[in-house]
Amino acid sequence: MRPGKTILVQREVKPLDFLSAGETASEFKETLKSLGISADLCRKTSIVAYEAEMNAVIHGGGGEIILKLDEKSITIVAKDQGPGIENVNLAMQEGYSTAPDFVREMGFGAGMGLPNIKKYSDELNIETEPGKGTTLRALIYLDGNGGE
Ligand SMILES: Nc1ncnc2c1ncn2[C@@H]1O[C@H](COP(=O)(O)OP(=O)(O)OP(=O)(O)O)[C@@H](O)[C@H]1O
Ligand SMILES: [Mg+2]
Repeated sequence: MRPGKTILVQREVKPLDFLSAGETASEFKETLKSLGISADLCRKTSIVAYEAEMNAVIHGGGGEIILKLDEKSITIVAKDQGPGIENVNLAMQEGYSTAPDFVREMGFGAGMGLPNIKKYSDELNIETEPGKGTTLRALIYLDGNGGE
């Protein structure tokens, strides 16, 4: 892509909208694919965006998901004004989930979303404040080693 150019896609996600949840992740994947990004990076982005979207939908009361692409990296941002995460270290652990029963019955709530976001991204930053909301920012390097 042209130096200095940034591609940006921004989508709103609604609370508990399981029907359309996941669409944003698919769209991000298609967008990157059409820009010639490798299948491996498209797959990683789609996993990260999907889990971040589902968390905003299930736990965050809805919010927005943003995709950015520049010469060095893919950035996925998920923002919500939900209840926030009380203990991020705990939330990052495999198997930890506060998902209610009706959400578990739909197949979510394994407590694997955040661990998978961590696994498939090169940088992960979570800003959260109880009662205010959560902003998750994940970076995936285009060349796999930080763009250096
Ligand atoms: N955006 C958010 N707002 C508030 N709490 C969150 C948010 N994202 C994650 N959490 C908290 O962190 C926990 C762990 O999240 P994680 O995505 O790993 O698991 P899960 O969403 O419960 O289950 P899974 O992702 O496997 O369906 C959640 O159960 C919830 O308590
Ligand atoms: Mg999750």
